[in-house]
Amino acid sequence: MEVINRYITIKNHVDGAPQDSDFELRFSPLSLFLDPASHEVIVKNLYLSIDPYQLNRMKSYSSSQQTSNYAVAITPGEDIDTYGVGKVVASGNPKFDKGHIVAGLLKWGEFTVVKPGGMLNKLDPMGFPLSYHVGILGFSGLTAYAGFFEVCKPKKGEKVFVSAASGSVGNLVGQFAKALGCYVVGSAGSKEKVALLKERLGFDDAFNYREETDLKSTLQRYFPDGIDIYFDNVGGDMQQAAVSNMNINGRIAVCGVISEYTDRENRAAPSMMDVIYKRLKIQGFLAGDYMKLFGDFLSTTCDHLRTGKIQPLEDISDGVESIPSALINLFRGQNIGKKIVRIAED
Ligand SMILES: NC(=O)c1ccc[n+]([C@@H]2O[C@H](COP(=O)([O-])OP(=O)(O)OC[C@H]3O[C@@H](n4cnc5c(N)ncnc54)[C@H](OP(=O)(O)O)[C@@H]3O)[C@@H](O)[C@H]2O)c1
Repeated sequence: MEVINRYITIKNHVDGAPQDSDFELRFSPLSLFLDPASHEVIVKNLYLSIDPYQLNRMKSYSSSQQTSNYAVAITPGEDIDTYGVGKVVASGNPKFDKGHIVAGLLKWGEFTVVKPGGMLNKLDPMGFPLSYHVGILGFSGLTAYAGFFEVCKPKKGEKVFVSAASGSVGNLVGQFAKALGCYVVGSAGSKEKVALLKERLGFDDAFNYREETDLKSTLQRYFPDGIDIYFDNVGGDMQQAAVSNMNINGRIAVCGVISEYTDRENRAAPSMMDVIYKRLKIQGFLAGDYMKLFGDFLSTTCDHLRTGKIQPLEDISDGVESIPSALINLFRGQNIGKKIVRIAED
């Protein structure tokens, strides 16, 4: 049997904010017959994760492209891989049978041919919707968990600031911090997001950074006794303002600097005097380096979901055609929670 696989590629390198015109929908015939000796697996994609770092892979140059196997450069016209969940429709690999639900590195398209050695595992949904395994129980969740617990080493009662707090990683950091008993304030880009953080997710406070003119004094207002932990998703001015409001021995996990991804000229320049005299620890990290925590992360997060201590926050759009706008909208602040594209029903 043969199908037509529809998939998304970039037409050119993307060096500024991504636009619709940077992407193209392509079609290619795909045979669903596999030689049993091929060790390949064909997966029908169901849910795909949409992530800001993909933009750095699309640039003509980004230092990130040399430093991680997941962040390698994407050449225009090539398929684009991402974390996702799907269903096996043909297998030449004895570990997988037709019908198995799997998670791994899939393509921005309707089907993925996973070569031998490709990242693919059978998935036990554990009673949760499959989409959760792309976000809250997938890499976004692991990023929040590892970044907060391993990098920030939080203690009950500490004061925590999270930027891009209504996003996929940020909302979970805030919820993990509240579950531990920290005081948590988040920043986000709209009134609606601020209300959601306070009213639905239990943040102690939140503010719309777009309405603020001096972020340093904004943070002084929200943290009159200083910040112990800053979970940085945005970089730029917010990082500078946070550093100047940190307490002695404060920790900053630099998870991402999204405000710098679309603007080469925008760079955080935090005061190194503050870093030295307040003995601050500022650490970048990559979730992929913390796979050893995956089991702990999964059992803790599943327990919190079952008891209602944390809530999932998903933003799902439908169909392969919606992949470009899903990515573009991350840089326009138009997602609330984990951005996922549903390619097909479970
Ligand atoms: N280190 C790792 O292993 C790792 C793993 C996953 C993600 N990350 C990073 O973590 C950050 C969050 O990723 P995510 O997947 O959770 O995305 P996300 O927060 O769900 O989506 C991006 C959000 O960033 C905010 N934003 C966009 N442009 C901005 C700007 N110029 N200034 C301030 N905020 C801006 C928007 O919310 P507002 O409405 O608040 O502006 C937008 O909704 C990103 O920097 C990402 O690269 C790192």
